Amino acid sequence: MPSTVLVGTQWGDEGKGKITDLIAGKYDYVVRFQGGNNAGHTVVHGDVSLALHLMPSGVMYDNCTPVIGNGVVIDPGALVKEMAMLQAEGISYDRLKISCNAHIIMPYHKDLDGADEKMLGSNSIGTTKRGIGPCYQDKAARKGIRVQDLMDEKIFRLKVEAALAQKNPILEKIYGLHTYTVDEIMDEMLPYARILKPYMAETTQLLNDALRAGKNILFEGAQATMLDIDHGTYPYVTSSSCSAGGAAIGTGVGPMAFNKVIGIMKAYTTRVGGGPFPTEQLFPENGGTGEEAEVGEKLCAIGHEYGVTTGRKRRCGWFDAVIGKYAVDVNGLTDIALTKLDVLTEFETIKVCVAYECDGVRYDYLPMQQSVLFHAKPIYEELPGWKGCDISGCRTFDELPANAQSYIKHLEELVGARMTMISVAPERDATIFNDFE
Ligand code: GDP
Ligand code: IMO
Ligand code: MG
Repeated sequence: MPSTVLVGTQWGDEGKGKITDLIAGKYDYVVRFQGGNNAGHTVVHGDVSLALHLMPSGVMYDNCTPVIGNGVVIDPGALVKEMAMLQAEGISYDRLKISCNAHIIMPYHKDLDGADEKMLGSNSIGTTKRGIGPCYQDKAARKGIRVQDLMDEKIFRLKVEAALAQKNPILEKIYGLHTYTVDEIMDEMLPYARILKPYMAETTQLLNDALRAGKNILFEGAQATMLDIDHGTYPYVTSSSCSAGGAAIGTGVGPMAFNKVIGIMKAYTTRVGGGPFPTEQLFPENGGTGEEAEVGEKLCAIGHEYGVTTGRKRRCGWFDAVIGKYAVDVNGLTDIALTKLDVLTEFETIKVCVAYECDGVRYDYLPMQQSVLFHAKPIYEELPGWKGCDISGCRTFDELPANAQSYIKHLEELVGARMTMISVAPERDATIFNDFE
């Protein structure tokens, strides 16, 4: 039975939570390998819709152990809040394991995230202000504080003292923000440390032993390929490796362990925050007019495109096969789960971007220079829709209207991988398995 990596292929919010929750029952472990509570993964069961930020989406199954890997950055307060939410819903997280090597998001990381964004002004990234970037900055600078440091009060105090000696002058002198005393940080973090201690584990050994014992592991990505620190639209990205390669680094499992890589791909495209987005259909408030504004508003309204973490309105646009093809390459996708196909039902015709044009040059692949991507004009193909046919009840490929089938087959050809799952509504069972093994 395979070990599977599941990643976002666009700019996030493709439905990773839904698909993870859908297939997690077949796995013994579901592991988050990067990012933090900047993620917002929705799982829907009947009338209940849960937003998970740090907890792996496999938590819903009793047989499945949720693991937070070393590549994740953890805001202890946010994790404790999420545990309380799950408890209130009657969902057990007893089996949770947290890597001792994961880094801790400290209160000053959140302050610095907000202050950095303010300083960037119109060039701001539009971060979630959860302290993600500053925490990974400290990790790379070898100044981070890790989960294991929370296990020993004396060590933790020493680390906090050293951190504040650097952070306080930056907070005060560069940003004009309030500073922290060591006791303030200790008082805030130690109660969380006490709650989290029973879940701390040596997760690298745990996962490798599990593989040796023939167990199945699902690696749940957060964010997405185009937000990847190396492969995304830098600097308008997050600070971690969200593509499939990150699953090895962020868990301590060797790359040969993976034999399936599922890319989650929305049937159109959305993006939250700043940065290039060639197929964007601008909202009226951002200068969009006529058909463009109408399409943007319609995708947003029908798709309920509002951020799960920050509540921000997501920018919306047509499907971009150039980034689809790129995501197939960067992640080595073996499968694609196409999501939110039902949202396109209300359109008479549907556009798909097959290439870009910039200064008279055609680009069939992601351009080398980001400035080109910023100015790229999409070259569209227009396909007939299936307006009026409600597809949310379809459970087999053959039940889909002919034009929806053609749309999927065309996307498969354009991006170069099979769409083995097709999601037609938010609920777990509203999914078509299309030769998924
Ligand atoms: P994630 O971050 O990739 O897990 O995605 P989010 O949870 O942030 O956003 C996806 C949204 O789309 C959630 O509200 C899901 O409940 C919803 N969703 C997922 N799949 C489908 C689908 O096939 N159709 C519709 N209409 N909604 C879906
Ligand atoms: P899920 O896992 C969509 C975006 C932010 C911002 C950029 C950097 O739900 O798909 P950060 O706070 O990470 O430093 O912000 O990345 N971003 C996301 N966009 N979905 C997410 O997660 C995101 N996590 C971060 O909007 O543009
Ligand atoms: Mg999300």
